Amino acid sequence: MENKSTHIIFCMAFILLLSDCATIDTISANQEIKDGDSLVSEGGMFEMGFFSPGKSKNRYMGIWYKNISYGTIVWVANRETPITDKSGVLKLGRHGNLVILSSGNPMVWSSNLSNVSVSGGSNSNNPVGVVVKLLDSGNLVVWNNQNLIWQSFDYPGDTFLPGMKLGKDFVTGLQRSLTSWKSPDDPATGEFSYIIDTNGYPQTFGWHGEVIASRFGPWNGLGFSGFPLEIENHVYITEFVVNEKEIYHKYELISSVFTRVVLKSDGKGQSLQWIPRIKDWIVYADALVDTCDRFSLCGPYGMCSNNKHPPCTCMHGFEPRNQEEWRASDWVSGCIRKRRLKCGDGDVFTKMTRVKLPDTRRSWYNASMTLRECETICKRNCSCTGYANLDIRNGGSGCLLWFNELLDIRDYDVEQDIYIRIAASELEGHVDSQVPIQFQPSENNTYSGASNFIRSATYLCNDNRYMLDENSGSLHMEPFNDIPYFSLLEVARATCNFSASNKIGEGGFGPVYKGVLEDGREIAVKRLSETSEQGLDEFKNEVICIAKLQHRNLVKLLGYCIHQNELILIYEYMSNNSLDYFLFDETRSLMLDWPQRFNIIQGIARGILYLHQDSRLQIIHRDLKASNILLNSDMNPKISDFGLARNFVGQDTTAKTKKVVGTYGYISSEYAVHGRFSIKSDVFSYGVLVMEIISGNKNKEFSHGDHRDNLLGHAWRLHREGRAVELVSRSLHASCVSSEVLRSIHVALLCVQHLAEDRPTMLSVVLMLASEGALPQPKQPAFFTGESHSEVQSVSVVNEYMITQLYAR
Ligand SMILES: *[C@@H]1O[C@H](CO)[C@@H](O)[C@H](O)[C@H]1NC(C)=O
Ligand SMILES: *[C@@H]1O[C@H](CO)[C@@H](O)[C@H](O)[C@H]1NC(C)=O
Ligand SMILES: *[C@@H]1O[C@H](CO)[C@@H](O)[C@H](O)[C@H]1NC(C)=O
Ligand SMILES: *[C@@H]1O[C@H](CO)[C@@H](O)[C@H](O)[C@H]1NC(C)=O
Ligand SMILES: *[C@@H]1O[C@H](CO)[C@@H](O)[C@H](O)[C@H]1NC(C)=O
Ligand SMILES: *[C@@H]1O[C@H](CO)[C@@H](O)[C@H](O)[C@H]1NC(C)=O
Ligand SMILES: *[C@@H]1O[C@H](CO)[C@@H](O)[C@H](O)[C@H]1NC(C)=O
Ligand SMILES: *[C@@H]1O[C@H](CO)[C@@H](O)[C@H](O)[C@H]1NC(C)=O
Repeated sequence: MENKSTHIIFCMAFILLLSDCATIDTISANQEIKDGDSLVSEGGMFEMGFFSPGKSKNRYMGIWYKNISYGTIVWVANRETPITDKSGVLKLGRHGNLVILSSGNPMVWSSNLSNVSVSGGSNSNNPVGVVVKLLDSGNLVVWNNQNLIWQSFDYPGDTFLPGMKLGKDFVTGLQRSLTSWKSPDDPATGEFSYIIDTNGYPQTFGWHGEVIASRFGPWNGLGFSGFPLEIENHVYITEFVVNEKEIYHKYELISSVFTRVVLKSDGKGQSLQWIPRIKDWIVYADALVDTCDRFSLCGPYGMCSNNKHPPCTCMHGFEPRNQEEWRASDWVSGCIRKRRLKCGDGDVFTKMTRVKLPDTRRSWYNASMTLRECETICKRNCSCTGYANLDIRNGGSGCLLWFNELLDIRDYDVEQDIYIRIAASELEGHVDSQVPIQFQPSENNTYSGASNFIRSATYLCNDNRYMLDENSGSLHMEPFNDIPYFSLLEVARATCNFSASNKIGEGGFGPVYKGVLEDGREIAVKRLSETSEQGLDEFKNEVICIAKLQHRNLVKLLGYCIHQNELILIYEYMSNNSLDYFLFDETRSLMLDWPQRFNIIQGIARGILYLHQDSRLQIIHRDLKASNILLNSDMNPKISDFGLARNFVGQDTTAKTKKVVGTYGYISSEYAVHGRFSIKSDVFSYGVLVMEIISGNKNKEFSHGDHRDNLLGHAWRLHREGRAVELVSRSLHASCVSSEVLRSIHVALLCVQHLAEDRPTMLSVVLMLASEGALPQPKQPAFFTGESHSEVQSVSVVNEYMITQLYAR
């Protein structure tokens, strides 16, 4: 035991050099962790120690991922009480109390367990059994002789990890909720929180300060009403438990895919998934997506439909409380009954289908009642305004009654119904509409068959949840009907059994074949590498996502094929090959004159802008390069290979390395150094692409007699000397319009600036290219010398060191 702490010190001395230095996951009473030391969970998943968030210099004790996404903080102890120097120490008291102290403050933070009555038979003067351990779940636990006496999972911060419970424990009184950070640099409690409300039937509220901003349904057996279902999810299982002792929501991973849910400091709730191939988190789902997710937008008895304009309407039998306000798009005061209730037999219930159930704070429930019993009870009590099944599984069960104005109802693409009390006289003349007064409680749910796809589609592409069937009034969720399925036989037939003569290229994900369908349409067939079951599921999700992306500057996905381990994407065929085919060939480059090139420069920008912004999915391309820009018969550019999160095609890390090197000239510094992608990395690649389109040279192969700069450095040099025109390819001299050329070079230089925050967004790029206003002066580009290869590689090597330093100092 004794030499463990010396071991820590020994270890820390070398941790900057040796990443596999043996580490500890446990400390015992009277041991401590100093700033610079760390505790690592047994399997190496999480690490705990002092760190500084973002740009802050303050020190906090926190827990972060270690073997994936190094440095992503999941929990902070002294959120509210930062330490301003490196004197912080975490100590385990004799009785199991954890304290953080610093030179200036003997009690920076405490787990407040000083008075805990030490159970388990040991007497409190014998602290031998007290240990702190960091588990591979990210939970920091304090045990006293195997009894759990404290755990960090009871005090969540902004991150909801698998295995954590959010909710209320009625025995201990503990309320576990998520609270955002103040800012990315400050983990103190911010303005946003997610709290499970235990009034009536439990539901979750998203608070912004003192105001309810959003509401996550009541739990309907499969998910929170109003939010995408969680059926047959292969990544994790979700639990929602309601009993006398506690109410909680929890999820557990059931595969090796890592996910976390974060309530960010800007109030955005996101579920993120770690993609090993790209070594990055992708946003798996956003909590709030559309207008109707705003709490009670349409007021009492108002119904919100995201596919209607305006989104708010009154429920059947109701009219706006204040017509004037309503017409002015102020729906807050909601709707009132057209006819007063008579109570008893004078009232009927009208059924609303596919809705998010209203606010349940003033509801009553019984999980074993049938819908018919539920109706009887509601009918008997005049203040009961509506009823519904509690659980929608197996045809529905349980009873939920409302005793107040119905608030925050919206359309919901799941079979969840509510019966609303109205005066019987409302029915006259409305026999046509949705008012079946009799009902079959055992009605089969139609969603269950296609459940998995619904979940996938809504969960991953949830921005499009209500856009799938815009034209018809009802919401049908049959996403796979939108995307044609091709059988392997059809694809094989179209490509002459994938014959070598049909092969037109080798893309980043596997070979590409040209094919002709039976109806004569030409197609490009991308045959992806084989993958596992896991990959298949993600593949389907991605196909759905990609198919929703439609823009004239994106290659259109026509369909897909899945056969055993075979994953195939079918795209429209582009007759004029890719941009690099023309650009870097002496003769063919003559076929691309300046007007065409300028059109290509602008088209690519619009395509990326759509991916970044207009598609609402915010897709980062990650691999923009000349060979990924295809040209159609009119020489219009179409971006290919977008939207593939690269998580399903093989797990070969060497392939990844090769790939990065292969597209070397296009990657930005933050990616090369930090492995970090953002929309600004795409902007960088775009800038490189524009330079190549103008100069006809490949960035990474460029050389010049006078200096060792690469293409970016050369362009920068010429720009500063006022000779930027000299960059222009000789093949363009006849056709070029110098104002457009200079503008394009200038914009490209802005795109390749070293710091991501200096680079413009694609929206600015599109606007700058189209306008004639003055442009800001670009700063020095990233990697401008010809030695960028070795320079970057050496940076990559010290990268581990730099990050370690950042957190271990
Ligand atoms: C990280 O560590 C955990 C726990 O040992 C392990 O299950 C997981 O596979 C590791 N992940 C990676 C990417 O190494
Ligand atoms: C511990 O108790 C003190 C005093 O009651 C309080 O200020 C502090 O926030 C508590 N710490 C935690 C981690 O709950
Ligand atoms: C610890 O015990 C003291 C004295 O009994 C009491 O005042 C204090 O509030 C207790 N602290 C906690 C965290 O329960
Ligand atoms: C719920 O309903 C069942 C069946 O009607 C009944 O036996 C039970 O007592 C009810 N529970 C409560 C708490 O009302
Ligand atoms: C109707 O229900 C409300 C809320 O549960 C209750 O307060 C009231 O007493 C009930 N009225 C009748 C007549 O049962
Ligand atoms: C509901 O579905 C099950 C299984 O598909 C079937 O056996 C049953 O007959 C259906 N019930 C009704 C009422 O349609
Ligand atoms: C493709 O392969 C199948 C079976 O291997 C064969 O019957 C068929 O003739 C082949 N088609 C072409 C166009 O080569
Ligand atoms: C582009 O494709 C069209 C149609 O296939 C063809 O007519 C045209 O010559 C091609 N353009 C170039 C520059 O190859």
